[in-house]
Amino acid sequence: MHHFDYKDGELCAEDVSLTRLAEEVGTPYYVYSHETLTRHFRVFSEAFASVRHLICFAMKSNSNLAILRLFGAMGGGLDIVSGGELFRAAKAGMPYERIVFAGVGKSDEEIAYALEKGVLLFNVESEEELVNIGAVASRVGRQARVAIRVNPDVDPQTHPYITTGLKKSKFGIDINRAREQYRTAASLEGVEPSGVHCHIGSQITSSSPFADSVEIVARLVGELRGDGHDIRYLNLGGGLGITYHDEAPPLPSDYAAAILPKLKDLGCTLIFEPGRVITGNAGILVTRVLYGKENPEKRFVIIDAGMNDLIRPSLYQAFQDVWPVEEAARERPRHVTDLVGPVCESGDYLAKDRDLPEFYRDDLVAVMSSGAYGFTMASNYNSRPRPPEILVRGEEYHIIRERETYDDLVRGEHIPAFIEERRIP
Ligand code: LLP
Repeated sequence: MHHFDYKDGELCAEDVSLTRLAEEVGTPYYVYSHETLTRHFRVFSEAFASVRHLICFAMKSNSNLAILRLFGAMGGGLDIVSGGELFRAAKAGMPYERIVFAGVGKSDEEIAYALEKGVLLFNVESEEELVNIGAVASRVGRQARVAIRVNPDVDPQTHPYITTGLKKSKFGIDINRAREQYRTAASLEGVEPSGVHCHIGSQITSSSPFADSVEIVARLVGELRGDGHDIRYLNLGGGLGITYHDEAPPLPSDYAAAILPKLKDLGCTLIFEPGRVITGNAGILVTRVLYGKENPEKRFVIIDAGMNDLIRPSLYQAFQDVWPVEEAARERPRHVTDLVGPVCESGDYLAKDRDLPEFYRDDLVAVMSSGAYGFTMASNYNSRPRPPEILVRGEEYHIIRERETYDDLVRGEHIPAFIEERRIP
């Protein structure tokens, strides 16, 4: 579900023409629909209206301040994974008591920063980390509320790079060792074991892996309470998938229906960390065709966005749909085509061996479903400034992040005097 549709022959974000936007902000650019973002957040929240819950939006999927602020205003919190993300959360005005801090490699500085601000929970990924959080907390004179991330060994049936809940994954603690870890946690001066955390993977397109893992962790909550721990929070992570191509993932209401019966009697505050399902289909990347090119065996369309702007197709062989901005272009003859960027890598493509209509120089092309893990994974590779991010609401648009400049690219770089002194012959 999204609000990118053809109106009067051209693709629009809500009521804003993407052609007009391209003229005004240049290409490539990311554009998000306010209506889609708010709808997705609301629908997810409504699915859990019958229980106490907190939706901690996974900032790694989209960290623009305007978007974080929007979800904060809708009652949401944030799932963060670094000190930088905590800083962003603060800049967006997010109350610290709605923030959960995850990640396998939190540094002492990051732990102290989060303790000082008073985040709701640390999601703990290893015994060493647990002990260290205790040590840092004692040093700074704070209590760290923790939720140990347990690994239920459930296969989410998704891409191996985004599978996290299996025994061989670097994430979480083996569920069979969980009770002993909570005993350790309870013995540490600066630590208050208050929750259980579990996240099994991302882009999950059926309810059954969620139902299986929830059953396992709900049992664990009962056991931990029996052991005397005051478990008040159950964090079920994120992972609900979206339609990129022809997937038919469960709706948030289906997801809720699959898991809530197993959770209702626990009385925990449920925490969710959705990312992709909220922002994925709420954003697209718009790019302009530079050239066409045919080799004996391949047909290429070269565009002005590359893997540095959107890396998912290259990194995960991810499918993202490609729509011409001009509606009539859909009727052009079709060919098997690679849509490639200007970056000097063979792996630089946004679509590979795809049945696409002919595209010509200056055509605008929309790469759909780019709102999650799009801009946040963009880089400056090949010294390419990162694109701007635009938020559309009805007929208005707002530049929520400016296009980087060449000066931005070299900010913070220095040539030491002993090199600068050398004359360029
Ligand atoms: N919570 C934890 C602990 C996570 O590791 C993740 C994602 C999420 C929540 C949010 O998951 P979501 O609801 O978005 O599926 N870059 C990859 C996805 C990496 C996901 C990493 N963890 C991609 O573009 O597909």
